[in-house]
Amino acid sequence: MPLPDTPRLGFIGAGRLARCIARRFARAGFPVVAIASRTPSSADALAAQLDGCRAVATPQQVVDAADLIFLTVPDDDLAPVAAALRFDASRAGTQALVHCSGASGVDLLDPAKRQGAATGGFHPLYLFGGDDADLARLDGCSVTIEAEGTLHAALARLAGALGCHPLSIPAGGRMLYHAAAHYAASFAICGLAEAVDLWRSLGFDEDAALRALLPMLAGTVGAARDKGLASALSGPVSRGDAGIVARQLALLESRGGDHAALYALLTRRAVALAGRRAAPPAALPAIAELVETALAHAALGAAPPRDEA
Ligand SMILES: NC(=O)c1ccc[n+]([C@@H]2O[C@H](COP(=O)([O-])OP(=O)(O)OC[C@H]3O[C@@H](n4cnc5c(N)ncnc54)[C@H](OP(=O)(O)O)[C@@H]3O)[C@@H](O)[C@H]2O)c1
Repeated sequence: MPLPDTPRLGFIGAGRLARCIARRFARAGFPVVAIASRTPSSADALAAQLDGCRAVATPQQVVDAADLIFLTVPDDDLAPVAAALRFDASRAGTQALVHCSGASGVDLLDPAKRQGAATGGFHPLYLFGGDDADLARLDGCSVTIEAEGTLHAALARLAGALGCHPLSIPAGGRMLYHAAAHYAASFAICGLAEAVDLWRSLGFDEDAALRALLPMLAGTVGAARDKGLASALSGPVSRGDAGIVARQLALLESRGGDHAALYALLTRRAVALAGRRAAPPAALPAIAELVETALAHAALGAAPPRDEA
């Protein structure tokens, strides 16, 4: 017998992600029947929001009650928790164990696979804050699925139940996929943090800086969506202003630290993007040379004095 079309769902771990997706699944008609968590009150609080759901004392009770079990504990706990679960041989083929990590391999769930359960990955590309706002914000996001056969089909239906688009990645592709996704999430925050840091010397605190920078970031994201990356690129590289790039590199080098190296590495990417335009700026090779010189200085650990004017 295969996994049922409308599997009974269970959750091990009642944290930020589980609190959102369990409720969205239930709203879409997928029964969530059992939840266990390290702290009993976490499981109680989530189960109380779901019709027909029980908070249970142990992860094993979730496995016994559900067809499709979401292991939604922190990544470091995935392997030990998965290894302790027992799957009944008489239910082989009808149960599945899935984790929601973007970085961890699905092979962490192999002990369940050896006992006849299907295993897979279900990674929502969304930063869960753990509050009710997540329920609506999840709409239109993507969920990356790594699974085979009926489990893949079931997980694609569940992604639809969350209002998300299903994406597939090949087996073994998880680490690269996750490393790259940082650029659209935490590294975007790191870019803002660099801007805020530099603006502090002009008298802005974080609130004042973000009030000015976030609308610009929102506009940039909108332009990328509407026009594509190369056309959305703005700033001195897109205009071919080599003189501005040279002066900004010199200014950042004079401040010490790695400000100039970060600016130069991102400018290297900007040069590549501008080069994809139908009519790239004529000054791109000159800008590329400035970038490589700055990176060579950074690799030597010290920037030579340069004229800021
Ligand atoms: N948060 C995100 O933005 C996000 C996005 C995509 C994917 N993910 C993935 O989703 C998974 C869960 O992340 P999260 O952010 O929801 O984590 P979280 O907020 O820290 O929640 C983890 C939950 O698991 C419980 N727990 C911890 N160790 C346990 C154990 N040994 N046995 C049973 N329960 C245990 C926690 O304890 P208590 O019972 O004490 O509360 C907590 O409720 C991770 O694999 C993560 O990579 C997260």
